[in-house]
Amino acid sequence: MPENPENSRTGLSRRHMLTVGGASLLATAATTAAAAVPASAAITTRASADPSTDGTPEQIHLTWGNDPATSVVVSWASPGQAVRPRVHIGERVIPAVERPYTDGMNGETTYTYHARIHHLRPGKTYAYTVTAENDANADDPFSSTFTTAPEGRAKFRFTSFGDLATPNTAWVLSYGQSAYAVGAVESFQPLFHLLNGDLCYGDLNPMVQPEVWRDFGNNNQSSAANRPWMPAPGNHEIEFNNGPQGFTSYLTRYTLPSNGLPQFEGRWYSFQVGSVLFVSLSADDVVYQDAGAFVAGPAALVPAASTGNEPIEPGTSFYINGYSDGEQTRWLEETLREGRRDPSVDWIIVQMHQCPCSSSKTGNGSDAGLRAAWLPLFDRYQVDLVLSGHDHDYERSFPVRGFDHNVGTVTATGATVDTWRPHPVTTVDSGTFDTSHGTVYLILGCGGTSANLDIYGVDAADGDTQARVFIQPNRPIPSPTPGAYGRVGAQATEDAIWSAKRDTATGYGIAVFDVDPGSRSDGQTSITVTQYHALGADPVNPTTGAKGAPTADYTVFETFTLVRPRGNGEGD
Ligand SMILES: [Fe+2]
Repeated sequence: MPENPENSRTGLSRRHMLTVGGASLLATAATTAAAAVPASAAITTRASADPSTDGTPEQIHLTWGNDPATSVVVSWASPGQAVRPRVHIGERVIPAVERPYTDGMNGETTYTYHARIHHLRPGKTYAYTVTAENDANADDPFSSTFTTAPEGRAKFRFTSFGDLATPNTAWVLSYGQSAYAVGAVESFQPLFHLLNGDLCYGDLNPMVQPEVWRDFGNNNQSSAANRPWMPAPGNHEIEFNNGPQGFTSYLTRYTLPSNGLPQFEGRWYSFQVGSVLFVSLSADDVVYQDAGAFVAGPAALVPAASTGNEPIEPGTSFYINGYSDGEQTRWLEETLREGRRDPSVDWIIVQMHQCPCSSSKTGNGSDAGLRAAWLPLFDRYQVDLVLSGHDHDYERSFPVRGFDHNVGTVTATGATVDTWRPHPVTTVDSGTFDTSHGTVYLILGCGGTSANLDIYGVDAADGDTQARVFIQPNRPIPSPTPGAYGRVGAQATEDAIWSAKRDTATGYGIAVFDVDPGSRSDGQTSITVTQYHALGADPVNPTTGAKGAPTADYTVFETFTLVRPRGNGEGD
């Protein structure tokens, strides 16, 4: 089997070359990465202090509590251990819970804090401050506002993208667009934002993961401290030596709605805003693709001595397929069944990182493991919309329901194979789609990372759109370089008859969703979706080769409308 062609293109040293699905990257080696840490990684900290005793809040961000109408969580970190960390809201003082962890690669300890705020009123705006006894800004502590979700059927706006990274280009896959992307969220003033995985690519910067997360958190703070940002874990949240699935950096920074499963809290969850049930999933549990932390070699990856962890040998990848042993899928089915039975729910929107329907040519493509595991459930319970990231571009499917079986082709042999191709219920791009008849899939991996992937597959024989599909795991295999390993890309192709729209102009953008619950008299609900894109932001235009640059200028790419009847609780 050939090595991923992307791996063969670079003439650079292969030490610690890591593969991002279809794209591969040369991660900095352990020694050079440590030297690459900027003298000061702090972006928004307003006062300096001895880091070991500095309890100044930074990386401040909000998430919904279990009920977004009445509960919000304020989370943050500080350079050192905070003394009496707390949130003030009016007369209320809410103590924060400390959740520290020590990175399993460089041995640094990060202190995070989480204050759960309950008993809020729906649809109200609250001012809050975050501080501690050893807050260097104690005389003028960080303050902002947030707004709770409305009660019952109400109009609201949310936004979404994935694959954000940080603006600090010292880090692999980081890029300046990451800052403008956060600004774009703020410019649309959504009630909340969905961040669809691959948050900052800490795993591709394995000896400086806490520093990458810090830059990520400080970049996001300008929006995430004002409105909840709700994340899903992606393949790049999987880090060596950081917990059973590698999610410790992620889980330590976020407090998310409970899924009722103590051993899996934070990995998947649901919450309801207005008449929309949001379901956030951990797709690494079911995808075939192996795209987590990886040591390509030929050198081993050597954790800092203080961690006591052994060198990680070339050819090692952190593959977590099946980690929940079916628990997540059982939870998903129960959650969807209850959602469709609930008369207060009109819409079900799923957020996850990897893609059931991507025709990216240079990215990862689609994953049949994901399709087989979850799409039958999305069909059965009429999931309206599925938001992903993973491929760094924008693509929209027609509404799909059911499958066209045995219509794929194994790339290496030409043999026919079942890719579980989703079946479009229409191929007329009318601009209005009734999602009670079929689920619409959006790829929104258009956040801010440096690797734009806005080039899409075409069948050379007939000019039809074509998708690459993972039909089996792609575990590491020896590469032509002695002692080094690679991971192949998707093994099959299919005609992507489900693909309705692809943004070939840029890999950067943000989706804005305006939910209108309608009125009882017309019985219809709608979500107007507008994709804004950042023309010229691609570091290199994949078609012309022209160099671009980060830009704050987001303009409309397309608008479409989803409609469905109001829920009546008579679901399956
Ligand atoms: Fe990804």
